[in-house]
Amino acid sequence: MKARFPLQFYVHHVFLIHSLLLSVKAVPSRPNYIMYLTGQHNIVPNPSEVSSVTHVALAFMRSEIFNQPEPHEWPLFTTVSAARSQFAEGTVIMAAIGGWGNTDGFSKAAKSDKSRALFARNVRAMIEQTGADGVDIDWEYPGGNGEDYKQIPNAQKAWEITAYPKLLSAIRLAIGPSKILSAAVPGLPRDMLAFTSTTIPSIARHVDFLNIMTYDLMNRRDTRTKHHTGLSNSLEAIDTYLERGLPLAKANLGLAFYVKWFRTDPNAKCHHNPIGCKTALMEDPDTGADLGQAGAFSWHDEVPPELATSFKLALAKGVYDDVEGGHYYWDPEEHIWWSWDTPEAIERKIAKVVQTRGLGGVFAWGLGEDAEKWVHLQAASEAIRNLSSDGGGVWGAEERSEL
Ligand SMILES: *[C@@H]1O[C@H](CO)[C@@H](O)[C@H](O)[C@H]1NC(C)=O
Repeated sequence: MKARFPLQFYVHHVFLIHSLLLSVKAVPSRPNYIMYLTGQHNIVPNPSEVSSVTHVALAFMRSEIFNQPEPHEWPLFTTVSAARSQFAEGTVIMAAIGGWGNTDGFSKAAKSDKSRALFARNVRAMIEQTGADGVDIDWEYPGGNGEDYKQIPNAQKAWEITAYPKLLSAIRLAIGPSKILSAAVPGLPRDMLAFTSTTIPSIARHVDFLNIMTYDLMNRRDTRTKHHTGLSNSLEAIDTYLERGLPLAKANLGLAFYVKWFRTDPNAKCHHNPIGCKTALMEDPDTGADLGQAGAFSWHDEVPPELATSFKLALAKGVYDDVEGGHYYWDPEEHIWWSWDTPEAIERKIAKVVQTRGLGGVFAWGLGEDAEKWVHLQAASEAIRNLSSDGGGVWGAEERSEL
């Protein structure tokens, strides 16, 4: 009996059942396409350039505001209504809370049932008073490895690992199911202290999605060169969350609209193997301070004058590494490793990571960082439109299951 049906039938059949299951789980009909809009680069292009954007996260409100007894002001670089007017109707406008270095407020909030309830109540008040559609929690990071990791050892933050899902739970309880709750989460396995196979399933229950920060995957704590937002290491980050229990539809891939540079060791022979080459010492091992041997700038920033010659060379001579997936250049004169995404690298990454895995979508840090040319935004938008229209991703599932 079975042998009479060609393989095609079974593939099709299994696919249909799979599609039905997906639609029951309410997979969004189009991919999440999220833009952080930052105070540093509060620039939004013409409406036609952002018509496929589904969510905007305004970054940042400070976390400690939400621990006050009754705050009435919610300092932010813009207002929700000003931001809303710059995007298509129906775009979800969220407030992002925290960001790199702003961990104290979260730590205080997470401490007890009482402090969690206060923080959550204030998130609700903020949503009511500003008109935001939800919040994005950017605690970098629960459990440690933040900016202060040399001052406050991770051991002193171990309690945060179990407190973090409880804080998210309290926020969800306070804001209800119709508001959006998301979190920005670390992309390097070494920083995923609070994201284990025990905690992720409970975190996932409370949030609409996680923005997995698949950038800065090389930072000043590293000692060897690698792609800061490469294909392989992005996939590794995403797969780690998936393996630990994050549902596909709640996983978003992060894109970086900026360039990173790192000084390599002048004695290292990087000619033969620029990837995996020894760097200069970039961080003070005792204090964690930046030693000025690495940095970043956005596509909208002026290139720092002392780097201009090297960066010009990088743009002209940069190549794509087909093995690890990433665009790079190593400058042999100035011993600088450059790592960034071209529009082609972005297209490829979205196809290889988001499409093949069937993720919820992508997000970028950040929209205005790509001004004034917007070429990285355009590449991402086109790749996103391709995902939703080619019928090969999970997004066509609802339509197919109606057959
Ligand atoms: C979108 O799909 C078209 C047609 O398959 C292809 O030519 C184009 O390169 C794709 N663009 C992106 C950004 O993926």
